Amino acid sequence: MIDTLTRLDDLRARVAAWKREGLRVAFVPTMGNLHAGHFSLVELARRHAERVVVSVFVNPTQFGPNEDFDRYPRTPDADAAGLAEAGADAVWMPSVETMYPHGADAAVQVRVPGVTEVLEGAHRPGHFDGVATVVARLLNQVQPDVAVFGRKDYQQLAVIRYLVRDLAMPVRIEAGATLREADGLAMSSRNQYLTAGQRQVASTIHATLEWMRQAAVEGSGLESIESGARDRLEQAGFAVDYAVVRTPGLARPDDGHGPRVALIAARLGATRLIDNLEFDA
Ligand code: PAJ
Repeated sequence: MIDTLTRLDDLRARVAAWKREGLRVAFVPTMGNLHAGHFSLVELARRHAERVVVSVFVNPTQFGPNEDFDRYPRTPDADAAGLAEAGADAVWMPSVETMYPHGADAAVQVRVPGVTEVLEGAHRPGHFDGVATVVARLLNQVQPDVAVFGRKDYQQLAVIRYLVRDLAMPVRIEAGATLREADGLAMSSRNQYLTAGQRQVASTIHATLEWMRQAAVEGSGLESIESGARDRLEQAGFAVDYAVVRTPGLARPDDGHGPRVALIAARLGATRLIDNLEFDA
């Protein structure tokens, strides 16, 4: 049986009881509308702890004024059922009032410098402040030994690692691989916004990431890789926010060899998709 908890007292009592028994607790934060990618993180969490808590909370503070907060898909019953099957022990589903007791506008905020200023941070002002703010709260609420995040949100993972290290939070961060559809499209709750035609085009993102990797490994220059990627995406019908190759710390690489990550954010109509691919050049 899976427990769906909505009160902070109940969550704290449950986690405290587990810890008294000497059981380790892993935590997977999500915004719900769960898919196989999320469930793979639950599986990874199980490998690191005896008990797994998953949060489902559509966090208003990480959406911009013109973004999809209102229409973000909310499927709490299906999420709880899926999590029971995936082997989670508890679902934490706080209300906005529980998450932000003084109201979202009067909330203490956590702002991570540096890594939040580029790419997603540049295109979605305030987004990572909302993410860092809610993740700090979630980690304080659940107090897990381990927290699991997906590599699908590469920059978010970097923000969380910085946050946890800088605030000396007593939690270990583990990262899970990106789960993809058969044609390479990264699984995402936002994929269901796509029309059938857009869905076909959407796999171009992963194909372009693979093309970028190939070009980088063959020694092409950064400028030609990035403009070539942009052309491919635009020809397929995307409006491109960025298509870049970066170092693991998200700096522009000097020419040469080393670990790299190709990152794309691109829009099809009103739907914005992000993906990335890590490789050695
Ligand atoms: P959400 O988009 O629901 O994602 C929850 C977690 O699932 C994140 O760590 C994300 O990287 C991971 N994830 C998403 N798609 C994935 C895929 N195809 N394969 C593997 N993992 C995948 O990310 C958030 O929510 C929020 O920003 C949150 C961290 C919960 C803070 O509100």
